[in-house]
Amino acid sequence: MGLADMRRSYDGTPLTEADLHEDPIVQVARWVAEAHDELKDATEVNAMAVATADARGRPSVRMALLKDLDERGLVFYTNLDSRKGREIRENPYASLCLHWQPVYRQIRVSGPVVEVSREEVDAYFAGRPPDSKRGAWASEQSAPIADRAAIEARMEELGRRFPDDDAIPTPTNWGGFRVEPDEIELWQGRPDRLHDRFLWTREGDGWTRVRLQP
Ligand SMILES: Cc1cc2nc3c(=O)[nH]c(=O)nc-3n(C[C@H](O)[C@H](O)[C@H](O)COP(=O)(O)O)c2cc1C
Repeated sequence: MGLADMRRSYDGTPLTEADLHEDPIVQVARWVAEAHDELKDATEVNAMAVATADARGRPSVRMALLKDLDERGLVFYTNLDSRKGREIRENPYASLCLHWQPVYRQIRVSGPVVEVSREEVDAYFAGRPPDSKRGAWASEQSAPIADRAAIEARMEELGRRFPDDDAIPTPTNWGGFRVEPDEIELWQGRPDRLHDRFLWTREGDGWTRVRLQP
């Protein structure tokens, strides 16, 4: 079947003004919790697209895992020297998109990006499985490498360098980014492409909200 013929109806539960918390971050947390309850066995509900742009404004996007969410913003962890890390240094803004196809829901968040404190990074890194920690040391993320064998050889070398699973430090070029939302949009798919959309925009200490056309 051709792509042009692929089509589904989005029969999501209606999303009305009465359903919404006035604080969009609380609302996002609710949706993440609901997605987790319904979909955790089927998919990684905290997977999100992370869009950045370079100094010339050229965008790039990739998936990352949402690892923390509170009033300060949404956090993901990565190699700070990766392409995304370099782009955020040049142009400290990002846009995020979470999507849960089975419940016809999408969340978009955008805003300035700040680095997560080293205390928070160390606390998160400490909880990773030992070989994921070694993997973070092994990879100069986004740099070219000759072949698979080269990265496996580096991993073996790191096994010798850090033999004790409980004593693997955080690489200095590994860390977290927090997107501090200035815009949050919730999208609920509905039949006939008449979706429910609400956009919050930060205004001073609070938020304003509008309903958007589908
Ligand atoms: C579901 C999923 C989750 C991912 N989570 C992360 C993550 O949390 N951090 C990360 O650095 N890369 C993650 N990746 C890999 C990134 O998509 C990407 O390949 C990598 O970060 C390099 O991106 P960059 O070259 O644009 O910096 C994930 C990939 C997928 C498919």
